[in-house]
Amino acid sequence: MRDNIPKFDVLPEHIGFIMDGNGRWAKNRGLERSAGHREGAKTFRKIGEYCADVGIKYMTFYAFSTENWNRPKSEVLALMKLFKEYLNEGDERIAENDIRQMRLKFIGEREGLPKDLLKLIEKAERESAKYDKVTVNIALNYGGRAEITHAVKEIAEKVKNGEMSIDDISEKTISDNIYTAGQPDPDIIVRPSGEYRLSNFMTWQSAYSEFWYSDILWPDFTEEDVNRILDDYQKRNRRFGGV
Ligand code: IPE
Ligand code: IPE
Ligand code: MG
Repeated sequence: MRDNIPKFDVLPEHIGFIMDGNGRWAKNRGLERSAGHREGAKTFRKIGEYCADVGIKYMTFYAFSTENWNRPKSEVLALMKLFKEYLNEGDERIAENDIRQMRLKFIGEREGLPKDLLKLIEKAERESAKYDKVTVNIALNYGGRAEITHAVKEIAEKVKNGEMSIDDISEKTISDNIYTAGQPDPDIIVRPSGEYRLSNFMTWQSAYSEFWYSDILWPDFTEEDVNRILDDYQKRNRRFGGV
């Protein structure tokens, strides 16, 4: 833990990070795109730990979208390898999660992921399920539309089985059937790398999220940038349709 954390009056409960710009970061250095992903993975750990130390209770990191399968096979393989490496770092990662009492949760479609990765995901979720101080969602094979489609199917199944009636379906029913069930919606969504779009990230949950963007490429993202986001957040006037 560190002792140089600025104090903030209002903290977002949940921050979403779209970890974008790894490829360009590598290209700028004449490196393979996979080197950018490797650096991006380090940044993920650094930023996750810092946010936990600041007191953020929920974070969601967008790691791989349902559309990212369209990338060259070699890049997809390099990414899957990185996810496995992160989860395989066993004791070291567990100790990190332990100190900060972080619960890891993977959101996204399980189908289509390599079997060995799936096993590691289930293990990491099982082992960190005892923590409730910080929840770190990793959005992997995640798409907001796929998530809503999945929820609609689950709800339809319940109606079909007679567990609920059509009139019982409310916005809460949808919130309760998506991957982030039980968690607050993201208060702020961060997108680095100079793109101004959500790219299928938290489509349902982002209805009233604040948006923060910057030209910084994800591997260059620092704790200072998190402080900037939090400073900015103090000045946002969230009205939720009111006055
Ligand atoms: C984000 O970085 C990582 C993933 C989408 C997996 P990119 O790989 O999209 O980097 P750019 O956008 O090409 O720079
Ligand atoms: C969004 O980045 C997905 C992740 C960061 C995992 P992309 O690089 O895939 O998004 P687009 O294609 O620029 O919209
Ligand atoms: Mg990108």
